[in-house]
Amino acid sequence: MKKDILNVELGSYSYPILFGAGLLHQAGELLLAHFSFKRAVIITDNNVAKYYLEPLQSALQNVGIKVDHFVIAAGEGSKSFANYQDLCEKILELQPDRNTAIIALGGGVVGDLAGFVASTLLRGLPFVQIPTTLLAQVDSSVGGKVAINARAGKNLVGAFYQPKIVLMDLSTLATLAHAELLSGYGEVVKYGLLGDADFYQRLLELGGVFEIAKNTELTQQIIKHCCTMKAEIVAVDEWEQGRRALLNLGHTFAHAMEKMADYKLLHGQAVALGCLMAMRLSELLGYDISQAQITALQNHFKAINMPIKIGDFGASINWDIEELVNCCYGDKKASNGGLNFVVLHAIGDAALQNGVAPELVKQVFNEFL
Ligand SMILES: NC(=O)c1ccc[n+]([C@@H]2O[C@H](COP(=O)([O-])OP(=O)(O)OC[C@H]3O[C@@H](n4cnc5c(N)ncnc54)[C@H](O)[C@@H]3O)[C@@H](O)[C@H]2O)c1
Repeated sequence: MKKDILNVELGSYSYPILFGAGLLHQAGELLLAHFSFKRAVIITDNNVAKYYLEPLQSALQNVGIKVDHFVIAAGEGSKSFANYQDLCEKILELQPDRNTAIIALGGGVVGDLAGFVASTLLRGLPFVQIPTTLLAQVDSSVGGKVAINARAGKNLVGAFYQPKIVLMDLSTLATLAHAELLSGYGEVVKYGLLGDADFYQRLLELGGVFEIAKNTELTQQIIKHCCTMKAEIVAVDEWEQGRRALLNLGHTFAHAMEKMADYKLLHGQAVALGCLMAMRLSELLGYDISQAQITALQNHFKAINMPIKIGDFGASINWDIEELVNCCYGDKKASNGGLNFVVLHAIGDAALQNGVAPELVKQVFNEFL
């Protein structure tokens, strides 16, 4: 299959995203063609290390790069101050210089943590993203947001720090759990809903993520399309002063559910349900979204076992609607004290809506209980 490339245009911080199957095995040549370095520190997690650490190490060593690595425990809990400090101290013991590259090999957890380490060590080391989940390939590895979690909430300590290059090896998706593919697909559908009605319609017709994943070329096209949309938005609003906030479609609902579930939900699955809720909120606000369109997406999700009701996340969580609405106030986007949401004026046409009445939000949560 053909390799592909996309440039994220950010002036002197511009960088390429390379797409292809098996890129991991060519990582040495591909990275050196883009920037010069002699040492690298790979940060990965224990699941990803099993499959991909050795091939990446060999690919780098084969072109003469000295490689060290650190393996963190898989899971959101690893985006912690403790891990951040531990990694920084251990990497400093290796006496890195300004050209030592930090390579994130893994999903969004590894990318966010390794990126934050890279952004601060020696005031910034060259950073490489090699995302291995669908969610990381379509979303978290592009755009430069890196972060760890604080007691007050997720991703509250972080930076905007762009990678030097992103390598998307489509072959890595073959070992990904079905639930994680679904999670990434939530973000894929989000792109269609927020900015590309034709792409959204195509997704509905393609029959869902498991059908798409059978065809590597199609998977690559779809991932590249999502990255193109994100790159265009990031290029005009790197610091999230305006348009970039539209990428948070479904996220205020999702963050509220994730917080109440103590972050046990898969993020992209919560975003998928959050998008359904955002559609319903948009309909209630009088925008051009119909119940038939909401039902069509529900049916699409249902056919692939994506949660379409809050209860689908499991009976063990004690959902409290008042508390869910309160969590929406707590979201970063509620910056003026009101309830702010990304809504759809129509499919493919997202906009920010300030001052949404809490009763409407409560109604939406109730309808999706
Ligand atoms: N920086 C951003 O812009 C941004 C955007 C969205 C989400 N995020 C963050 O991303 C994180 C979620 O990322 P995620 O969904 O990738 O989760 P993740 O990094 O936890 O990965 C999901 C699971 O899949 C495993 N895994 C990863 N790649 C694999 C592979 N190829 N084969 C087998 N197993 C594999 C991991 O070990 C983990 O258990 C959250 O912390 C979220 O806050 C960041």
